[in-house]
Amino acid sequence: MSPIRNIVVLTGAGVSAESGIDTFRDAGGLWEQHRVEDVATPEAFARDPDLVHRFYDARREAIQAKQPNAAHEALARLDAGWPGELLIVTQNVDDLHERAGAKRLIHMHGEHLNAWCIACDTRSRWTGTLIERPACPACGMPGYLRPDVVWFGEMPYRMEEIYAALNKADLFVSIGTSGAVYPAAGFVREARAAGARTLELNMEPSQGSYWFSEARHGPATQLVPQWVDQILGF
Ligand code: OAD
Repeated sequence: MSPIRNIVVLTGAGVSAESGIDTFRDAGGLWEQHRVEDVATPEAFARDPDLVHRFYDARREAIQAKQPNAAHEALARLDAGWPGELLIVTQNVDDLHERAGAKRLIHMHGEHLNAWCIACDTRSRWTGTLIERPACPACGMPGYLRPDVVWFGEMPYRMEEIYAALNKADLFVSIGTSGAVYPAAGFVREARAAGARTLELNMEPSQGSYWFSEARHGPATQLVPQWVDQILGF
């Protein structure tokens, strides 16, 4: 087999689960507590912006009290130590990868700690609440800030860069994601088609487990440090 140089890692809610952040589709997960149609679509925001703001304000506050876990730390170690190309693509909107130290990172579903002004199209770092309709720090207009989170029916961010990385990947690793949401669920097939080896690290077989050439099942805080040690040659 050819040596591995270019790696793409995809992460999902499972990588942050052991930091105490709810996943979406596990028992008791966020989409059991709230209907997607009520809080995570542009139509929901148009219909009941207070409800949507309350949902994201609460989550923005909650993630700031959480800490990165051993899986985030191992991926940051990989980022610091991997001599080839690496792209960590996360579907997560928390900031635990970057707080652990990861740099080569794309948030394809946006970030809780950003507010997006739909008047002037500027994104500003935001740690407080939005329900009071604060003014945009860039243009000064009140009432136009929304969570910088990709809702159902919206286009994920930076897809060209992600597909370019997938198309030259030698190894694609999917961590803590159910494989239920496209386009991320299709990345394994894109990488395979480009000739990459594919590895799933997840608590249980994902919906797309079948597509991976290897799968390891268990908690991310165990599987990810083990895999990073292995790939870095420790
Ligand atoms: P899901 O909640 O759909 O899936 C989480 C996956 O992580 C499941 O397969 C779990 O078995 C696994 N898991 C749970 N705990 C784990 C642990 N400790 N270690 C390893 N694996 C664990 O979350 P995502 O796949 O991230 O999008 O969801 C994808 C997208 O759907 C999210 O980004 C969000 C959501 O709707 C938007 O909001 C746009």
